[in-house]
Amino acid sequence: MTRVTCDPTGQFLALHSSTGPTRFHAIWLRDNAPDAASRSPVNGQRLHCLQDIPTDTFIKGARLAAGKVSVTFSPEEKTVEYDPAWLMKNAYDRPSATDRGRTGDDLKLWDASHTGHVKAADYATLRAGGDALAGWLDQLVRFGFGRISGVPVVEGALFDIVALFGFVRETNYGRHFDVRTEVNPTNLAFTGLGLQAHTDNPYRDPVPTLQVLHCLESSAAGGENMVVDGFAAATRLRAENEYWFDLLADHCARFEYSGEAGVHLTARQPIIGLAPDGELISVRFNNRSLAAVTDVPFDLMGDWYAAYRRLGEIIDDPAMQIAFRLEPGEAFVVDNTRVLHARRGYSGTGTRWLQGCYADKDGLRSLRDAMLMAKKTEADA
Ligand code: FE2
Repeated sequence: MTRVTCDPTGQFLALHSSTGPTRFHAIWLRDNAPDAASRSPVNGQRLHCLQDIPTDTFIKGARLAAGKVSVTFSPEEKTVEYDPAWLMKNAYDRPSATDRGRTGDDLKLWDASHTGHVKAADYATLRAGGDALAGWLDQLVRFGFGRISGVPVVEGALFDIVALFGFVRETNYGRHFDVRTEVNPTNLAFTGLGLQAHTDNPYRDPVPTLQVLHCLESSAAGGENMVVDGFAAATRLRAENEYWFDLLADHCARFEYSGEAGVHLTARQPIIGLAPDGELISVRFNNRSLAAVTDVPFDLMGDWYAAYRRLGEIIDDPAMQIAFRLEPGEAFVVDNTRVLHARRGYSGTGTRWLQGCYADKDGLRSLRDAMLMAKKTEADA
């Protein structure tokens, strides 16, 4: 940082470096003042609301002093010091990213050719915490998918998996659900048919953001689990046909479940979810739970169905899928807002027993970020 200059009206200042000026508004700076009167020294929370700051706030003066940016605001006549590194980390004076369908910087999209992240982490090692847990959580955030081996083969062990990073999301299905299959081809009722890849519970708002599945029994042949990166599938759809991508992003689908007494869950959300600036943030895809779609105009419904069909074909493409057989004591976690999961069909006879539950990724991201931040602080020290 070489110098700081102020707009003549006091509405913004500019920090100058070798790469050029970076501007900050007076109201933004004042609202983000880090002094003890503005932010709690204990928890960092803001102590004022915007109405406490005068509407006609302007920068009366600004200078570099002792490595800090010192700013005096009028009419409060209040001087606040800012860390230049913090300002540059939070700078917003840059072209906005507007590419529709782009994905977050910390995400890695994948397909069948990228299998490196499928290696299972050892449960006991994860329980010890430290770098192994931080790395696994980081992988889960970036790929939306993680496997674990060495989990005790006992009922309820999936709750201990969730305890590694967060809390169980209880639903009308209970704290957990059992997926038991008795495979007997002579009786169709017990045949383990395959399921198309899907995200779970799209009829909920908010949707459960993580799903955990833990295997307790697996004596039937076949029945592999399979996952698909929904963000990679949506990105491929957009590359093939931008109009179809827009149709699925710009119109709400409807999802519904009323399969038990006293339950009628409904959600009105698009299949491809975008943030207001176009970032791809969610995929909801579940043929079994799609209700009658009524939010697509008549003139576009035929095209919407063509787009929906093509997305399903992409999801069904083996080139997008990673399959693995879940043995007793193995588990996997998926980001249910992004990664679709499925079970392939069984052959022969035998039993299969999985326990599943939902959790949320805010806790997972929180722990990952806290662990990575602590590691960086330790490295910087
Ligand atoms: Fe499912």
